[in-house]
Amino acid sequence: MKILQITVIGCGYVGLTTSVALAYIGHRVHCIDQNQERVQALQNGIVPMHEMGVAELLGQLRDRISFGRWDSFNLTTEVIIIAVGTPRKDNGEADTSYVEAVARELGQRLSGDGLPIIVNKSTVPIGSARRVESVVSYYLKSRGINIPVTVASNPEFLREGVALYDTFYPDRIVVGANQGEAINILREMYAPILEQTFIPPEFLPRPDSYNLPAFITTTPTSAELIKYAANTFLAMKISYINEIAGLAERVGADILEVARGIGLDKRIGVQYLNAGIGWGGSCFGKDVQALIHTAGQYDYDMPLSSATIQVNLRQREEIIRKLQSALKVLRGSTVGLLGLSFKPGTDDLRDAPSITVAKRLIEMGAHVKAYDPVAMENCRKSHPELDMLYANSAEELAHGSDALVLVTEWKEFLSLPYNQLGKLMRQKVIVDGRNVLDRQLLTEAGFNYIGVGR
Ligand code: NAD
Ligand code: UGA
Repeated sequence: MKILQITVIGCGYVGLTTSVALAYIGHRVHCIDQNQERVQALQNGIVPMHEMGVAELLGQLRDRISFGRWDSFNLTTEVIIIAVGTPRKDNGEADTSYVEAVARELGQRLSGDGLPIIVNKSTVPIGSARRVESVVSYYLKSRGINIPVTVASNPEFLREGVALYDTFYPDRIVVGANQGEAINILREMYAPILEQTFIPPEFLPRPDSYNLPAFITTTPTSAELIKYAANTFLAMKISYINEIAGLAERVGADILEVARGIGLDKRIGVQYLNAGIGWGGSCFGKDVQALIHTAGQYDYDMPLSSATIQVNLRQREEIIRKLQSALKVLRGSTVGLLGLSFKPGTDDLRDAPSITVAKRLIEMGAHVKAYDPVAMENCRKSHPELDMLYANSAEELAHGSDALVLVTEWKEFLSLPYNQLGKLMRQKVIVDGRNVLDRQLLTEAGFNYIGVGR
């Protein structure tokens, strides 16, 4: 294996996971972030987000991975991976200003000798590989350096909560590049993953059924579109099952049975058919919007993608409707939210359904309480506007509540002593926003159990 010197720009969910995984398989990685607080924490071995295994591996890899701000940028690097954020602008477009800023920095810092391959790992709009190339070239030229710059698109498909697992055991690795040299270097960089020659971390064994990942080489434009199309398809699949769930409720079918019945058709597949409160997170919403925005620039409508968003918004409202129909009057009621993060295994609250539901309930005059095993600190910090009571346990949450809403399917919520919790509540109503609780058990405990699509 060829050991590469790699610089990763952006120490967020993607940048940090990628850095740790690349260091683990043998490379030397320097990770740069502009956020001083984040860099300092990482230098001290503190991981600023909740992501399984990252802190553990970081602790073992201190000799292969380092952190710094831009002033620590090393000119001997062979690969530069851009992993900064591309949040949603108000008009739905992806905000590429962070990527642009990185391209400018690179153009102002790189020397002409042994120019490294630049890799876009951030989710970026069509044409971004070309754009980064031209910005870097422009600034190099302004310093009298006239050499070809190579930018490849290497979209990331990891899921938060299982980010390291997805990085070590991906289904495929996509590289979009016009130059064979870039493809070769990235094939070398990923070789231990492509060939699965690394010894798995103890806590992340290689799954028995795992097949070697495909290495897919495309044009940069196809790679950029693959990322948006993949996220939109997954979001659409969830919205589809949620739409069917609404009908299942009305006709008296059970969406769990329906999802299994259709998902076992291999052409459909059982994954991403869990009906519930709808999808959230930092990417599905912003990426579907960005895709629609790109299409708009070509005067092209994307009705399926637009409906994917509409159905998802309705799904959050449906939770309020269910509470309303059970409690009749929400003003003055106390509602306890079980879970805040947009999914289990993370403290990420970006576009979390919990926030929409909490805001709506507060607007309607309800008292809102919340309990989450990891995301409460982040919620206090990032949503100071929410007039919400944070409970220290499920018991404290249940105490005096008229209803509980399971928003995030944390494992520990599946086996709570609901019988005892019910005794602490003012009314025994539970809305299972993820269809994961035992309906029979709760009903026997005297709860009015309300699922989604059941
Ligand atoms: P993040 O917000 O967690 O991290 C981005 C980091 O980049 C921050 O630490 C920020 O300080 C840093 N940064 C911003 N501008 C910088 C600059 N000019 N120089 C140095 N550092 C800078 O973002 P994320 O969730 O890791 O996402 C990064 C990209 O990856 C996005 O485009 C996202 O769409 C994509 N993506 C995310 C996921 C995910 O699960 N989070 C999965 C696949 C792809
Ligand atoms: C998603 C994609 O799965 C990743 O492939 C992609 O790299 C990433 O977005 C990204 O681009 O950021 P992530 O958002 O981390 O990953 O999490 P998922 O596990 O996909 O869940 C997204 C949302 O969908 C969560 O709110 C989850 O609760 C919800 N979901 C998921 C459902 O409501 N039903 C399902 O059946 C599956």
